[in-house]
Amino acid sequence: MEKRTLVLEAIAAKEAAYVPYSGFRVGAALLSKSGRIYRGCNIENAAYTPTNCAERTAFFKAVSEGEKEFLAIAITGDTDDYVYPCGVCRQVMAEFCDPEAFRIILAKNEDAYCSFSLGELLPGGFTAEDLKKVKKETK
Ligand code: THU
Repeated sequence: MEKRTLVLEAIAAKEAAYVPYSGFRVGAALLSKSGRIYRGCNIENAAYTPTNCAERTAFFKAVSEGEKEFLAIAITGDTDDYVYPCGVCRQVMAEFCDPEAFRIILAKNEDAYCSFSLGELLPGGFTAEDLKKVKKETK
């Protein structure tokens, strides 16, 4: 799939953002290996901490539909700069995505975007492999 197609989906996803507190809209579009696209927007909350980022909304929608393998995500905001995923969202990506293969596409608009691998944006991410390394005597 063309990167631009995913960027256009992220721009459309941003329209549903619920941001009464920050006014900072974010849209994401997540491409699964099965070829489906899951849109996500940020959803804020009066208690602030329950706020969900656009990226995690897209991931949780997809995983709740049975998807567990992903190829790429496009992310966009309303600023003149790129909106990078927060640390929590990068960690959620690391749960499901290959650090070398998964692409994170950052879009200023439909004509200006760049992309990184997950490993570039989350070097040394914590994974299930780390859990297996616990020493027996500490159990
Ligand atoms: N936000 C996202 O949705 N994704 C990001 O990558 C950065 C931050 C949201 C959370 C909150 O609703 C608003 O942007 C301001 O932090």
